[in-house]
Amino acid sequence: MHIDIITLFPNMFRGPFEESIIRRAQEMGALSIAIHNLRAFGLGKHRQVDDVPYGGAAGMLLRPEPIVAAVESILDQPVFRGEGAKVEVSTLPPIILLTPQGRPLTQSVVKELAHHSRLILICGRYEGVDERVREFLVTDEISIGDYVLSGGELAAMVVVDAIARVLPGVLGYERGAEEDSFASGLLEGPQYTRPPEFRGRKVPDVLLSGHHARIAAWRREQSLKRTRERRPDLLEEQG
Ligand code: 6GU
Repeated sequence: MHIDIITLFPNMFRGPFEESIIRRAQEMGALSIAIHNLRAFGLGKHRQVDDVPYGGAAGMLLRPEPIVAAVESILDQPVFRGEGAKVEVSTLPPIILLTPQGRPLTQSVVKELAHHSRLILICGRYEGVDERVREFLVTDEISIGDYVLSGGELAAMVVVDAIARVLPGVLGYERGAEEDSFASGLLEGPQYTRPPEFRGRKVPDVLLSGHHARIAAWRREQSLKRTRERRPDLLEEQG
């Protein structure tokens, strides 16, 4: 999987992409990431990337030209889907805009994205992007939740992290991503490690019993209980 990220703030990505799972995914060759500075595709001497909204409104919008230029440079071909477009977009990788107006990121969206060999992520900034970027360039829009971030960068990191850990071979342990909260559509239940008793609180007997069928049944039960208490909406989705 190769992921291209277009951003005005390349440095935001350095720390998070150089640690832990994302680092390991890159080291083992399962993932490669290229960060592209939108500023390099800006207009004129000042490399302008934004402008005031027509019709008057607060703040600045990202102009379409630098974003389209960045994507065309990354793919080394024209990609504009406008009238007279030369390229069949279905042959291109998904071009994804991170925006609070996008479809909500879920574990099933993560898995769907992980099947592609390449993704292009565009980090929105300021008060938004010119609508023609959506109409003629972007093939998908993703939000990571119902709250407002100052830009798409943190959201892009969330998307990359969630993808990295479902790529084959990336997680070091066999248990894998399959038992995680949401992978099954349920929340994970309580877990315990040593010591067997801590400040008077004991690890449930069943977990020390060595009885694998009983342990599995207990975990399932706990997982359902926790989901019912905290996220009943997930049970409704499951039907
Ligand atoms: Cl993808 N971008 C911004 N700016 N805010 C968000 C978001 C994305 N997802 C949730 N809030």
